[in-house]
Amino acid sequence: MRVQMHWWVALIICIHGAAATEQPETVNFDTEGLSREAFPKGFLFGTAASAFQVEGMTHGDGRGPSIWDVFIKTPGIVANNGTADVTVDQYHRYKEDVDLMSKLNFDAYRFSISWTRIFPDGTGKVNWKGVEYYNNLINYLLKRGITPYVNLNHYDFPEALEKKYMGWLSYQSVKDFAYFADFCFKTYGDRVKQWTTFNEPRVVAALGYDNGFFAPGRCSKPYGNCTAGNSGTEPYIATHHLILAHAAAAQIYREEHQVYPSPCIWRVSKNNASDRGQQATQVLKRRGEDGERII
Ligand SMILES: *[C@@H]1O[C@H](CO)[C@@H](O)[C@H](O)[C@H]1NC(C)=O
Ligand SMILES: *[C@@H]1O[C@H](CO)[C@@H](O)[C@H](O)[C@H]1NC(C)=O
Ligand SMILES: *[C@@H]1O[C@H](CO)[C@@H](O)[C@H](O)[C@H]1NC(C)=O
Repeated sequence: MRVQMHWWVALIICIHGAAATEQPETVNFDTEGLSREAFPKGFLFGTAASAFQVEGMTHGDGRGPSIWDVFIKTPGIVANNGTADVTVDQYHRYKEDVDLMSKLNFDAYRFSISWTRIFPDGTGKVNWKGVEYYNNLINYLLKRGITPYVNLNHYDFPEALEKKYMGWLSYQSVKDFAYFADFCFKTYGDRVKQWTTFNEPRVVAALGYDNGFFAPGRCSKPYGNCTAGNSGTEPYIATHHLILAHAAAAQIYREEHQVYPSPCIWRVSKNNASDRGQQATQVLKRRGEDGERII
């Protein structure tokens, strides 16, 4: 079993590679005649990453372990016993990364928030150093003219909650994810207007609980070689809770945080039912014009 490297991780690694050498003021690419004009107006060019694969600093500044920190310690899972302890060190080198994205003319950066950097135990105590890291990253992206696209969960479910109630197999995961999502909307929503809930939820369920190739590595024979799990039921239970968790976060966003017209400053009042009704109507009207863009 080998964990696949995704293309965008390779891209980020290249970006760091370029940083080490002399930096030209402009970069000329051989695009074989293609240009931005070949794409529809408003088409965004960006790059993407997941927290666990680029941040590093998995044990520093108060971050708690996710199920991936545990899973990759299983012998034979990752080539050369690799870990995510350093990776490309975006936690410390985010400014260099963003400068390079800017030099490459990217419009957007999709990154994920590490749940356990904000809530080391998944719920409860907030780790303010983690909160500050994403504030710094978001602020620096905006300063360099790059739009943040924030993904709330890219596989890295909190290990503390995995131990407590078996993660996505418990309905409690829906509530805890919604709480985390609400915290992120409240904390970063003044600057972040583009959110996604999950990266590849199908993969979380299928590889996590059917063949056990991904964390938490659960399955039953003959579908895989795991120490625990049930490939006949668990992928469906996990999927069900992922869908509910998405819906819970989307509902909180729409009812309490959605701001139209972006990036203006009207917010749904939490305490005024009549206000809320009026604003919901406006939101629906605008959605007709703009299409479903958020979540
Ligand atoms: C990986 O770790 C195992 C167990 O600790 C060890 O036997 C093996 O030599 C290590 N492999 C490499 C490439 O470091
Ligand atoms: C199944 O996993 C065990 C360790 O849990 C390992 O010893 C064994 O070689 C694996 N079998 C296969 C077919 O991968
Ligand atoms: C609630 O919202 C309505 C409609 O916007 C407004 O007329 C009313 O004064 C608000 N009530 C309170 C208590 O803020």
